[in-house]
Amino acid sequence: LDPKVRITSQSEALAHRLRDLLPGGDTRSATFYEPYPIAMARGEGERVIDVDGNEYLDFWNNFTALVHGHCHPDIVRALGTQLSFGTVFPSPSVAQAELAERIKERLKSVELIRFTNSGSEAVMLAVRAARAFTGRDLLVKADGGYHGCWEQVPMTQGQGIGGQRGTPSAVNDLLRVCTYNDGPSLRAVMEEVGEQVAAVLLEPVMVGGGVLAGDPTFFKTARELCDSYGALLILDEVVTLRLDAHGYQSVLGVEPDLTTLGKLIGGGLPVGAAGGRARIMEQFDPRRADFVGHSGTFNGNPLTTVGGRVSLDLLDDEAIARINALGEALASRLAGSMADSGVEGTITNCGSLVQLHLQTGGQVRAYADTNMGSDLLRRIHRASIEEGFLFASRGLMCTSTVMDDETIDQACEAFDRALARMESVALAAGRVGR
Ligand SMILES: Cc1ncc(COP(=O)(O)O)c(C=O)c1O
Repeated sequence: LDPKVRITSQSEALAHRLRDLLPGGDTRSATFYEPYPIAMARGEGERVIDVDGNEYLDFWNNFTALVHGHCHPDIVRALGTQLSFGTVFPSPSVAQAELAERIKERLKSVELIRFTNSGSEAVMLAVRAARAFTGRDLLVKADGGYHGCWEQVPMTQGQGIGGQRGTPSAVNDLLRVCTYNDGPSLRAVMEEVGEQVAAVLLEPVMVGGGVLAGDPTFFKTARELCDSYGALLILDEVVTLRLDAHGYQSVLGVEPDLTTLGKLIGGGLPVGAAGGRARIMEQFDPRRADFVGHSGTFNGNPLTTVGGRVSLDLLDDEAIARINALGEALASRLAGSMADSGVEGTITNCGSLVQLHLQTGGQVRAYADTNMGSDLLRRIHRASIEEGFLFASRGLMCTSTVMDDETIDQACEAFDRALARMESVALAAGRVGR
């Protein structure tokens, strides 16, 4: 990686062109950053190359989906073969069976599964299953829990990035929110409305909400409350399947009724899945007179399912242990760099997932402690990109199986250079006393 000043004029020109075509020049809220997002042309392993030819270490990995980095040869080969056979058929396929078998082997709570095209759709499907099964409407989730772009599961109730404008109030009425990792908070919600609750939907690690690991005691309470009120427990493992071969549910020691998956089970292609107890998932069996519908033109398409099968085969226990160790190393090195440079920041992490927090006024233990709109985060993010270290603008990073210790060294060196820039700016403004 060359620490020289990067010219990104092609990205800038493309941003202007796109602004006449797409609102803000982008098509995903979470991928936008000022003054314009760098436009990528290609990826190679742990690196991406932008349209101006600059190289970056990719710790963004498309929001954790690319657990094997870019263009893993085994995945490319399998996709190439499938491409020559066809991309999609309105029919079952061997690849669906192979991917579903692998997921079932990993998650003992999953007896039957259905594929979707995104994690958001997986959540929609799981919630539909829970509502149909219980005959109830209400959903409970944690404040700051991210479950995709579906309006029925907003990250925060009422406000949040981008707001909840456009959601009918009748839809908002279907949701109750508790505080993550706070048993009494969930208990209070259930005591009030538990008998109307179809499902409690939780991330085993709150990822978008700041990489906050679930507390096993909280999840035990959630399981017990669901059982005593007749509600289902849905664990959203769209991201966290990367943390343990048996999902983070095995780490927490909790068995959900339904699990949602996505990201890495598509080998880099659009994907989602919802699975769980047979008696719940059987509702989707079209042989039943009262079956619950679930359609989707590209559900379980062979390209995605082939990619997902190879992705899972590559992600064995040893690979997971390695990326988790790399994540831990990255987290402690970044925290050390911030402490040394006097920048006010902290890191949270869980295995291969790492979150940079800035201007939080101390440790981050709950979603309420986060400050992802921090101006300093925005500036350090930009400076890190300019130094060749790419991660999500809200501070989320993750490791991939194609990284090694040297990748971590290079990322940390780039981060140190980015911090040094902040320091010189702050010193010039008289804000850092050391
Ligand atoms: C925990 C979780 N659930 C669901 C989703 C939605 O997945 P998708 O973006 O594929 O719709 C995400 C996406 O980041 C996620 O992190």
